[in-house]
Amino acid sequence: MKLIAVVAGLIAVEGAALSIQSNLQSPVQSVLKHSQALSRQPNILFIITDDQDLQLNSTSYTPFISKHLREQGTFFRNHFVTTALCCPSRVSLWTGRQAHNTNVTDVNPPYGGYPKFVERGFNENFLPVWLQNAGYDTYYTGKMFNSHTIYNYDSPHVNGFNGSDFLLDPYTYSYLNSTYQRNHDPPVSHEGEHTIDVITGKALGFLDDALDGERPFFLAVSPVAPHSNVDPGDISSGNIYMSAPIPLKRHEHYFQDIKVPRAANFNPNQPSGVSWVHDLPLLNQSTVDYNDHFYRSRLRALQGVDELVDSLITRLEASGQMDNTYIIYTSDNGFHIGQHRLPPERLEDIRVPLFIRGPDVAKGHVQDAVTTHVDLAPTLFYLAGIPARDDFDGAPIPVTPGLDGERHEHVTVEYWGSAVAEGAFSGIGPGGSAFIPNNTYKSVRLLGRGYNLYYSVWCNNEHEFYDLLTDPYQLNNLYQTTSQANGDEPQILGRSLTQAINRLDALLMVLKSCQGVTCIQPWDVLHPLDPVDTLLDALDEEYDGFYGAQPRVSFSWCDAGYIVAAEGPQVPLTSRHGVSWEIWV
Ligand SMILES: *[C@@H]1O[C@H](CO)[C@@H](O)[C@H](O)[C@H]1NC(C)=O
Ligand SMILES: *[C@@H]1O[C@H](CO)[C@@H](O)[C@H](O)[C@H]1NC(C)=O
Ligand SMILES: *[C@@H]1O[C@H](CO)[C@@H](O)[C@H](O)[C@H]1NC(C)=O
Ligand SMILES: *[C@@H]1O[C@H](CO)[C@@H](O)[C@H](O)[C@H]1NC(C)=O
Ligand SMILES: *[C@@H]1O[C@H](CO)[C@@H](O)[C@H](O)[C@H]1NC(C)=O
Ligand SMILES: *[C@@H]1O[C@H](CO)[C@@H](O)[C@H](O)[C@H]1NC(C)=O
Repeated sequence: MKLIAVVAGLIAVEGAALSIQSNLQSPVQSVLKHSQALSRQPNILFIITDDQDLQLNSTSYTPFISKHLREQGTFFRNHFVTTALCCPSRVSLWTGRQAHNTNVTDVNPPYGGYPKFVERGFNENFLPVWLQNAGYDTYYTGKMFNSHTIYNYDSPHVNGFNGSDFLLDPYTYSYLNSTYQRNHDPPVSHEGEHTIDVITGKALGFLDDALDGERPFFLAVSPVAPHSNVDPGDISSGNIYMSAPIPLKRHEHYFQDIKVPRAANFNPNQPSGVSWVHDLPLLNQSTVDYNDHFYRSRLRALQGVDELVDSLITRLEASGQMDNTYIIYTSDNGFHIGQHRLPPERLEDIRVPLFIRGPDVAKGHVQDAVTTHVDLAPTLFYLAGIPARDDFDGAPIPVTPGLDGERHEHVTVEYWGSAVAEGAFSGIGPGGSAFIPNNTYKSVRLLGRGYNLYYSVWCNNEHEFYDLLTDPYQLNNLYQTTSQANGDEPQILGRSLTQAINRLDALLMVLKSCQGVTCIQPWDVLHPLDPVDTLLDALDEEYDGFYGAQPRVSFSWCDAGYIVAAEGPQVPLTSRHGVSWEIWV
């Protein structure tokens, strides 16, 4: 019975893909219209910080970024990364693909890092290469990937850039002794200089080169702030010690009275979250004080980035090319400090800032549409007038009025391997290590009309379900309440929690192995012929039997990488034309 349904499902998916492609015609047509409207392909300045939070208010402390980008551009307040870890997140960003499709899922080999990026063939096939082929001059300075080192930087060199000057491990996060490596030259140590001063000089130099060129340019600037400081001596086999970031001298005294926002999830009296988080002890006063110091250090370190942005914009304004330049500002993943009693780290922090300024971008506007990092490469293609690639797992975001269509409501979230705790009290992993293993999970975040939900399945098969409308700080895991008698369960959109979870689990089943259009329109995989585009549509009682019969997302064991055999059922059932699967079979 199951087999028949699965085969029928596969046939139906092909049909769905066709019909969706025809729906996507209009953005492609507007791509051409858009690039014709500009005198030539626009320039792109892309600034990406490291570990910058949105939820902890960091963007309230960067006045130049507010002035140049927030006030002169659009703030995408529902922007998410799909993997909250730098290297997987950056590879997804520069390829337009979910981490399960890049299989670069970690910061180090065998599952991630620069060697894995190269091994997977992306060095010949990623954004800067595509942009060069489409007529751009491309430049990059700062951190590219993890495990991009003083030993492997030339085997091979990173492709796709006319000019590059990369930070290299093990000095990437060494604020006062960074190593940069320019084009095909050997690495250069910058002992005694502050990494933000170094990158500011390099970024302005590349901007001058780019402005002098005949072709439009793409310049990416990736400062390491506000990431923690790590010197090579802080890394030993099997452990790592990360201390608070080091600000520029002139910012050291800033924000003396500022503390981590004391939201309800800061060091809460009642524990919350999955078991390993739930088991964390209440933080004592010395740890809380340290966390506040850590937070201030991050804000201070960000001041250098704020000034860097000001310098770049000032130079662009002087060049007369501002009218033909998009400026994008974001980070690779979010961060937390003391929330849910956790030490400084990034394990589930999917929210990051995204500001975009440029031709036709609304000024001082706040955009609510759900957008993700895998949408950014498709967005750059759109802005540059390049037709989208079939392997993009995202779609252009509504940067300009032409793109203001109805967008999807989901974010596909995935993570494999360890979380890494930082700071003086980071030894919370086994044996007092900073590494907390088994942080492998899959989740879906859903933001629709009248709902805001988060559902996750961990590799030990623990589940979380949060209703963020009533519980914005995720303190009350509703999943356990499904065992209550049906009538007493919390209601989601007028249906019982069990019914809502049945839908979200099936959606997650699609998303965890989606590719291309099925990542963008996942409900069409479940309902190729039904009028279902949202959770609300799927909650119709008519589909209760269909969703009740679905296989569930689960794990056979916790693995540190994307090992399909560990990840349970892969294929959902498919509904037919208003007739649920059970009746149809
Ligand atoms: C940048 O590199 C591309 C690809 O190699 C090349 O076609 C283009 O001429 C280069 N631009 C400059 C300014 O050298
Ligand atoms: C700075 O880095 C260089 C290598 O790039 C190293 O030789 C030197 O010892 C470092 N200096 C300090 C103070 O750690
Ligand atoms: C965020 O920062 C702004 C500017 O300093 C401040 O007014 C506001 O109270 C902060 N919010 C929180 C939650 O700390
Ligand atoms: C506070 O907690 C930390 C981390 O558990 C511990 O190392 C430290 O000794 C504690 N400090 C005091 C004063 O109890
Ligand atoms: C992590 O998961 C593995 C495999 O599921 C298990 O053997 C191991 O005990 C877990 N480690 C911890 C610290 O929970
Ligand atoms: C991902 O990479 C790992 C390490 O090379 C490999 O073992 C695994 O099979 C790959 N996963 C998939 C789905 O290809």
